[in-house]
Amino acid sequence: MEYVDKVLRHPEYIRIQKKITSLEKDRIYCHHEIGHALDVARMAWIYCLEDWCKKGQSPENMEEQKELVYVCALLHDIGRASQYEEGIHHSKAGAAIAGQILKDISFPPEKSRIVLGIISGHHTGKKACEGEYAVLKEYICRADHDSRLCFWCGAGDTCKWKEEERNRTLRC
Ligand SMILES: [Fe+2]
Ligand SMILES: [Fe+2]
Repeated sequence: MEYVDKVLRHPEYIRIQKKITSLEKDRIYCHHEIGHALDVARMAWIYCLEDWCKKGQSPENMEEQKELVYVCALLHDIGRASQYEEGIHHSKAGAAIAGQILKDISFPPEKSRIVLGIISGHHTGKKACEGEYAVLKEYICRADHDSRLCFWCGAGDTCKWKEEERNRTLRC
């Protein structure tokens, strides 16, 4: 996947991913570095495949769709370092950083618009899953949530997630 490779090799992407890892070194709650981004990418892609499978569909542009899901997931929390250091919510900071990265790698503008819309809306609850490309937004948001191992976490006593939001078992 050409653009996925370009994101992964982008110097600013690498720099910020390393920074997030270092800033979250002692964090007891969920992490947001590249491992989480890949969990989200793979789970969101599985949701797409399951959806098509149930509907008996097999889109011709499968590879293109997969790339869009992966680019979106890889970049969705890239604003985390700015949130820790500057207090800007990572969905807002992330959209600005991702915008520059996507421009640098010449990602098609119409797809960049989708990716940036999802990044900036991925923490707005239900609203994040409405409108254009709602299905992709829904899968990214669902994967973002379901990839968290609340049932295996030792920080539940002080976690900000409400009891009903927590994953009490594997969600897949
Ligand atoms: Fe996030
Ligand atoms: Fe996330």
